[in-house]
Amino acid sequence: MRGMLLSLVILGFAISAIAQDITLPAPKKTGGKPLMEALNQRQTHRQFLNKELDLQTLSNLLWAVNGFNREDKRVVPTSQNKQEIDLYVVLERGIYFYDGKANTLVEKLKGDHRKSVGRQDFVHTAPVNFIIVGDLNKNSRDAAIIDAGFLVQNAYLFCASEGNLGTVVRAYFDKEEVKKLMNFTDKHEVIITQTIGYIK
Ligand SMILES: Cc1cc2nc3c(=O)[nH]c(=O)nc-3n(C[C@H](O)[C@H](O)[C@H](O)COP(=O)(O)O)c2cc1C
Repeated sequence: MRGMLLSLVILGFAISAIAQDITLPAPKKTGGKPLMEALNQRQTHRQFLNKELDLQTLSNLLWAVNGFNREDKRVVPTSQNKQEIDLYVVLERGIYFYDGKANTLVEKLKGDHRKSVGRQDFVHTAPVNFIIVGDLNKNSRDAAIIDAGFLVQNAYLFCASEGNLGTVVRAYFDKEEVKKLMNFTDKHEVIITQTIGYIK
């Protein structure tokens, strides 16, 4: 009996340690506001509802920010098409790598790490934070810094188009803390962070 109980406990630990990736629904690539209206409404928000994004909205957002709109090319441009920008998504339940080809969030860390990814209070309760990382094995630092800006702006425009979503790009975070948390090498530079959520 004791042996069986022990096996069950070990099995429980093993199951909880298994990575739990999130398969996203296919992104919806039609609709939204006309571009000129979205541009006119683009702005920074810093107050968000404590409410998760539904998976369809999250999938659409991630596709707009770093997805593929052709066989091997992305919605955002990158210098020499090196595609050196990696997008990590911080949710309340964990931190995930966005795999745009597989349309999947690949679990990297379990648990709520929002306190580590920004110094402003709203970061710690917002449903979505991005960590935008340059893979310097693939491209120069200069290129990565410029290319990261396209992801940020696409998130701004997506939110403006949705109307009920807000976002803020954030340089005010502890780079070393995020690097340590994510176990990044010097060749993976955290360039910028961004918060997204329903507007309060
Ligand atoms: C590179 C960059 C870094 C920024 N960092 C922060 C930040 O750490 N925290 C913050 O609240 N806003 C940050 N912002 C947002 C700006 O404060 C905001 O864009 C500016 O006040 C203009 O407002 P608007 O975006 O509504 O036009 C940043 C903007 C940029 C472009």
